[in-house]
Amino acid sequence: MTSPVGHPATRNPAAVRPLRTDPPLPAVPPVRDAQGPRWRDHPELGEITARLAAAPPLVEAGEVRRLRETLASVARGEGLVLQAGDCAESLEECGPVQADHRVSVLGQLGDHLQRSSGRPVVRVGRLAGQFAKPRSQPTERVEGRDLPVFRGHMVNSEVPTAEARRPDPRRMLRAYEASGAVFEALRGHRGERVAGPWASHEALVLDYESPLVRADPLTGEPLLTSTHLPWVGERTRQPGSRHVALLASVANPVACKIGPSATPDEVLMLCQQLDPERLPGRLTLIVRMGRARISEALPPVVAAVRRAGHPVVWLCDPMHGNTVKAAGGLKTRYLPDIIAEAAAFRAALDRQGQHAGGVHLEVAAGGVTECVGGPVTSQERLTERYTTLCDPRLNPEQARRFLNTWA
Ligand code: PEP
Ligand code: CO
Repeated sequence: MTSPVGHPATRNPAAVRPLRTDPPLPAVPPVRDAQGPRWRDHPELGEITARLAAAPPLVEAGEVRRLRETLASVARGEGLVLQAGDCAESLEECGPVQADHRVSVLGQLGDHLQRSSGRPVVRVGRLAGQFAKPRSQPTERVEGRDLPVFRGHMVNSEVPTAEARRPDPRRMLRAYEASGAVFEALRGHRGERVAGPWASHEALVLDYESPLVRADPLTGEPLLTSTHLPWVGERTRQPGSRHVALLASVANPVACKIGPSATPDEVLMLCQQLDPERLPGRLTLIVRMGRARISEALPPVVAAVRRAGHPVVWLCDPMHGNTVKAAGGLKTRYLPDIIAEAAAFRAALDRQGQHAGGVHLEVAAGGVTECVGGPVTSQERLTERYTTLCDPRLNPEQARRFLNTWA
């Protein structure tokens, strides 16, 4: 908090309750789930969702409550969040050794940010369930043929054949099992320190998420037991979407991506739906506007949320608004763009006396060459180790260089 204009409500959330001044929520037309897998007529779908509904929860209510309290301390300005991991997790990389390695890298990057910033860092992985991807186009052209796009290992395979790309709901059971294995690894690291780590993923496939909603044994509230911190993505965050409604209905801390086209009114509506009680730690807004747009688009959004008294955690995702195509056609991101967006994010929040709560990064556990910068000295080197299933990730060294700028 560097400026005197911080809204008192964000420092003392009790002051903004009760909510009698809120306008009633406008009726929003239902939004079709355009990202839902086309597997409605699969003969086993009903049996699979019934099995998920009967399966043990992957997270416990007590853990989820503890994360919300931890995020509340970040909302009060007392620490930072590092949310990081693969764009799309692979079902092939969830064995105990690989999962442990991925969680270790998250921990090391958290330590790094803690050292460079001098603040406590909450570690949140994009893991233990990050198996579904929203896509802008339903098909892609591979060697002259149109194929359904890859939608994450929960839905189909990345192998470019029509057969492999067919959505298969049986994959939801594999994703559930693999998530359980990664949670094991996560819990192995949990005992080491108070600060986590925690799991998060985009709650995209409703056939998977909905059956995993269970009652909190203590409070009876619905809890999404697939992860600690579910988020709704940029393509499904319309007020009125089934994804927003799902997250509005559960007691977990929840997050929402905010892209460059989000208007202050739209974000306020999302805040009202996702955080009607203005509960610190309940709602995290993950801003992903791109370096070219953020300085113009973010300030009015922050001002609106501040005035409305929603004590949100503000995170910067400097990855998704800065994707470009390299000369060879590979998707990439440039480290200087990522650094520039994060700097603009912090400046915009500082100016309004709001706490820049941390970062959301796509980082691989190994030395990939998918983004340009630092050890990946030029576009020409991208093909050396380009292994992502979806978006280009930083390698750990690039991530450390980025985190050094959050001093
Ligand atoms: C992602 O986080 O991988 C993603 C698809 O992000 P967004 O919804 O912000 O585009
Ligand atoms: Co991504």
